[in-house]
Amino acid sequence: MSASKPPLARFEHVSLSFETPNGVLKVLDDVSYEISEGEFVSIIGPSGCGKTTMMNMLAGFQKPTAGSVTFDGAPILGPGPERGVIFQDYGVFPWLTVKDNIAFGLKLKANHVSIKEHNDICAHYLALMGLSDFANSYPKHLSGGMRQRLAIARAYAVKPKFLLMDEPFGALDAQTRLNMQNLLLQVLGAEGKTVMLITHSVDEAIYLSSRIIVVTARPARIKRIIDVAFPYPRQEAIQELAEFGEIRKIVRELVMSEYQAQQAQGSVRFSE
Ligand SMILES: Nc1ncnc2c1ncn2[C@@H]1O[C@H](COP(=O)(O)OP(=O)(O)O)[C@@H](O)[C@H]1O
Ligand SMILES: [Mg+2]
Repeated sequence: MSASKPPLARFEHVSLSFETPNGVLKVLDDVSYEISEGEFVSIIGPSGCGKTTMMNMLAGFQKPTAGSVTFDGAPILGPGPERGVIFQDYGVFPWLTVKDNIAFGLKLKANHVSIKEHNDICAHYLALMGLSDFANSYPKHLSGGMRQRLAIARAYAVKPKFLLMDEPFGALDAQTRLNMQNLLLQVLGAEGKTVMLITHSVDEAIYLSSRIIVVTARPARIKRIIDVAFPYPRQEAIQELAEFGEIRKIVRELVMSEYQAQQAQGSVRFSE
């Protein structure tokens, strides 16, 4: 990565308020940061602080009230295939089979993908996610964890330059979660993507990220940005290192203090 390259994603003095029947809810307050190509950035902060809203801006689903969000140097006007989103609540289509869910994004890019390539890509990601035997099943016949793996496969299949992942492993049991984290590292190693991951797991953030952005209770502001210097490819064993433990302690304390701030602040606060 050359130092002269502009950042892939840039938040500049971004604020956002929602107009609600109860008044104005301020969700983001003067957020500025950049994500360079090849970086893995995790966002961690209390529930309801504005993390998903922030990701929605980069995905192209939400415009800032003030400030700007740019991708590859241009303002974001809407969603695009170079930004693959894995939603918090699976985001699979119940009316499509497992295989057709994976193929969905590829069909949107139909001009670029031949039928053979298309089938190969589907088979590859079905196998990678352990879903080959369920290719022709519908999501309602899958467990929660399998549906989540399907959502991940669908996003990976399009090979987006930028992966936006909103608590993608939250509903998985500990062992499957670790498998998915390792698989993600493997896919990144092979395909060299840039990632923004929202997570509640401090360990997950440290294990996967090159940087962790801790955000405050709502309205979300940047509290601290922490570099995680472990080189890639990463092995599970780094989780046992003293240095890992030190970062864990720092991040946990930052996140805990924001949960406490959120509790002290009481329920949702609106302004006129
Ligand atoms: N479209 C919307 N209209 C009004 N309020 C919203 C909307 N989307 C989110 N919110 C509110 O904004 C706050 C931040 O939401 P969100 O970004 O989903 O938080 P997080 O992902 O950090 O848990 C919450 O209080 C939520 O209820
Ligand atoms: Mg969220």
